[in-house]
Amino acid sequence: MAVARVAVVYYSRTGVTKTVAESLAEPLRSAGAPVDVYGVLPAEEYSRPLHFNPRLAYETLVRRGTDVKFEPEEPRLEEYDVVVVASPVWFNTLAPPVQEFLRRHRRGARSLVVITTSTLDVDCSRVSRVVEELYGSEPALCVNVRSAQVGDPAELRRISCDISRKIVNLAGGGRIPEAESS
Ligand SMILES: Cc1cc2nc3c(=O)[nH]c(=O)nc-3n(C[C@H](O)[C@H](O)[C@H](O)COP(=O)(O)O)c2cc1C
Repeated sequence: MAVARVAVVYYSRTGVTKTVAESLAEPLRSAGAPVDVYGVLPAEEYSRPLHFNPRLAYETLVRRGTDVKFEPEEPRLEEYDVVVVASPVWFNTLAPPVQEFLRRHRRGARSLVVITTSTLDVDCSRVSRVVEELYGSEPALCVNVRSAQVGDPAELRRISCDISRKIVNLAGGGRIPEAESS
């Protein structure tokens, strides 16, 4: 069976989500799945202090989007079997560049996976509802990873392997190696 082509599209302001996005690529590639990683960023990055940045709050909660740019380029979703979108949780929702991306690519992916990172536990059914509003349908898989888990390399690898296995299963091909036990 042909292996899945996977796009990972992420925004990360302080590096946690970037670490998760990049750590997914390795087990997917070991399973033979070609993976392309893209950044979606605000045209103008949010300045610190982030919790007291009025534009950040406005674009997260009211505008629910922002002007975006891509690195290295905007992905062509139709080229992928699975599109993974990763975002920090801001004020209980997705960061504005990711909200913008989902709206801009409404129902554009064959299979959509959403990964969030947060400090506290997050209710993934709530995130799925936000995705449905913006994107037009719920994600096939929604996972939240706490930043403390990302800081533990063995835990991060376990989580990445687990998510990668589910991604490959979604597309119906490939095999993900078991996570090494710590
Ligand atoms: C403005 C702002 C709002 C946040 N809101 C939440 C929240 O509602 N719940 C939560 O658990 N963490 C919240 N966080 C913490 C981030 O979700 C967490 O640090 C995340 O992993 C950061 O990802 P990044 O390093 O990729 O930017 C917030 C952080 C910022 C800066």
